[in-house]
Amino acid sequence: MYKQYFKRPMDFVLSLMAIIVLSPILIIVGVLVRVKLGSPVLFKQKRPGLNEKIFTMYKFRTMTDEKDENGELLPDSVRLTKFGMMLRSTSLDELPELFNILKGDMSIVGPRPLAAIYLPYYNESERHRHDVRPGLTGLAQVNGRNALNWPDRFTLDIRYVYSVSLLLDTKIILKTVGKVLGGKDIALRGTSQIIDFHKFRMSELNKKIEIQSKDGKTSIRSIRNSDAATLMEMNNDTQIAKFVIGTPKKVTLEEQRLWMDSIKNEKSTIRFMVDYKEKPVGTIIISNISENNLSANMNIKLLETARGKGIGTESIRLALKYCFEEMNLWCITAHVLSYNKNSLALFKKTGFTNEGVLRSRVIKDGNRYDLVSFSILKSDYEKGMES
Ligand SMILES: CC(C)(COP(=O)(O)OP(=O)(O)OC[C@H]1O[C@@H](n2cnc3c(N)ncnc32)[C@H](O)[C@@H]1OP(=O)(O)O)[C@@H](O)C(=O)NCCC(=O)NCCS
Repeated sequence: MYKQYFKRPMDFVLSLMAIIVLSPILIIVGVLVRVKLGSPVLFKQKRPGLNEKIFTMYKFRTMTDEKDENGELLPDSVRLTKFGMMLRSTSLDELPELFNILKGDMSIVGPRPLAAIYLPYYNESERHRHDVRPGLTGLAQVNGRNALNWPDRFTLDIRYVYSVSLLLDTKIILKTVGKVLGGKDIALRGTSQIIDFHKFRMSELNKKIEIQSKDGKTSIRSIRNSDAATLMEMNNDTQIAKFVIGTPKKVTLEEQRLWMDSIKNEKSTIRFMVDYKEKPVGTIIISNISENNLSANMNIKLLETARGKGIGTESIRLALKYCFEEMNLWCITAHVLSYNKNSLALFKKTGFTNEGVLRSRVIKDGNRYDLVSFSILKSDYEKGMES
């Protein structure tokens, strides 16, 4: 009854009242953000809402846009200023979400909306957290906030979905107010140790992401421990080394295994193995995944025996399908050494646009080489699928 008929009108009325009452604070914080951190004052991010429909969530900016000499954003720890930290620890940065509540994207109480790129990683039961509108605060937030691990957090989210009531919402709101005012139990967002959800899920369940080509011969899948030998072979291959951007250091099988342990906690990167007729023949790396820009970078390596058979083309297509259809990314980039003719042909063939040459960008064995920059947008990909 409450869930169906009263929750939404109450959200509307309460958020409107809160916006009116808090308007002086909203204005002051807005002005301070503009002066101290720059514009735009609002930070927008795509998040899944009711029934996984994507909406744009608003927050106050808490980080600057400082970039290094190459135009890449500096690490979060540098861009998060003292003022930004203050906004986060007091939760003032969350106030613009009141407008999301007013619009009907969100509710005052509900499971916190996570970044849209995490959608592929929920299991069937966890997906039910999207059966209600996401909340400004939730059951998980008043029981440990960001300090909770993923399974505990989702357990509370689901428990909430099945037990929504006026009493529960009131309790959660009161507890939230108490916590925010008391400044208690707050793991500072953006600095907490909790690992990326996709990393967590893949290591926890050894979740087998596996996508197959239509003919069933080529597939991309999550890396397993048993792939160590193939990965070592590729890493130590002097032919491949000529075509990759860095200078790979030769490794032993033992070192390769240690490295595989270390990547379990790696952030913003997804690594796939490429299989051909069920044998591992290569790897595709999706790195620099940005949940704010919905962008990532793609890279591929195949064993020599597997090249020139269309496996590169097929596996890049599968990886694009994953990035655009499952993770909801908007843009994928790739960087290729200008003399790597096969790779230039590969990215062109798979629908990437040549964005131009970064001159003398890479130093390899003491020489400087040009780098060709490619990108593909989700809209390009979708057009390619139609034709
Ligand atoms: C680049 C690489 C992934 C390409 O994969 P692949 O499976 O060989 O490529 P495909 O067979 O799908 O072919 C894609 C295009 O590349 C070109 N190509 C591939 N192999 C070729 C060869 N032996 N001779 C000439 N052109 C070739 C062709 O233009 C081909 O398109 P086409 O078949 O329509 O003519 C693979 O060569 C590789 O791993 N190279 C070493 C590592 C590397 O360079 N990685 C890229 C870093 S950015």
